[in-house]
Amino acid sequence: MDTVISPTLCLIRLNDVTSTNDEARRYAALGVNDGTLIWADSQSKGRGRQGRTWTSPPGNLYMSLLLRPDVPPADALQIGFVASLAIAEAVDAVAPSGTTVQVKWPNDVLVNGKKVCGMLLESSMKSDGSAVDWLIIGMGVNIKVAPDDTPYPATTLENEGVSGLTVGDLLIRAINRFEEWRGRWTAEGFGPVREAWLARAAGLGKPIEVRLPDDALKGTFRGLDDAGALMLETPDGTRQITMGDVFPADDDAEAG
Ligand code: BTN
Repeated sequence: MDTVISPTLCLIRLNDVTSTNDEARRYAALGVNDGTLIWADSQSKGRGRQGRTWTSPPGNLYMSLLLRPDVPPADALQIGFVASLAIAEAVDAVAPSGTTVQVKWPNDVLVNGKKVCGMLLESSMKSDGSAVDWLIIGMGVNIKVAPDDTPYPATTLENEGVSGLTVGDLLIRAINRFEEWRGRWTAEGFGPVREAWLARAAGLGKPIEVRLPDDALKGTFRGLDDAGALMLETPDGTRQITMGDVFPADDDAEAG
């Protein structure tokens, strides 16, 4: 059963799926509108970035938002920053005072320095390559359960002192923040989103290591460019990084 949860979003709630991103791709192929949100209780084949798996037992939030943003392909990934900012603000609103809620490039959310949320963005271009046909933002938030074997340390909202938060409450809070920030992004461009995202960014101005599939780069995290690439200052100049995982450099455990 589809439910309209806001003027611009339609929710499809499912029990167990392989991956909400798989479901969203299926709906995209059927031609559904911008603003279709797939929410599942659990996933048997949850997918993370760079081919990793995403542990997905019941108790956490697993959702994928299908969008058809009317922007050039180069701007489409900016919306991942809209989404991570929205989740961070939703988490901040329910966390005990004194909790540190940060974003980590590209689209993770950290609570007290540990990861609670990851995002998997997938997209498809129109056949002439001129514009985005669909973009899926898959979001996983650890409320009750977190893996203990991840490259970046993970935690749950419950471990960090958030009690009594249902999965549905968090979904509604996150979607409300997303809609507000998406509206600003549409009206004003990437500038305000980038500014708010950087105000919460882990490691900004600090030494970081960016791990790529076959390499690792070290430098100082200097911000985001117009497309959302990470600007890494290295001894050879500033590099724009478009993929990878960010870790604090060995000598700076605070950067994460
Ligand atoms: C990462 O940090 O590696 C990204 C994790 C993304 C997980 C979410 S859970 C909902 C959606 N469905 C998936 O299979 N993956 C994303």
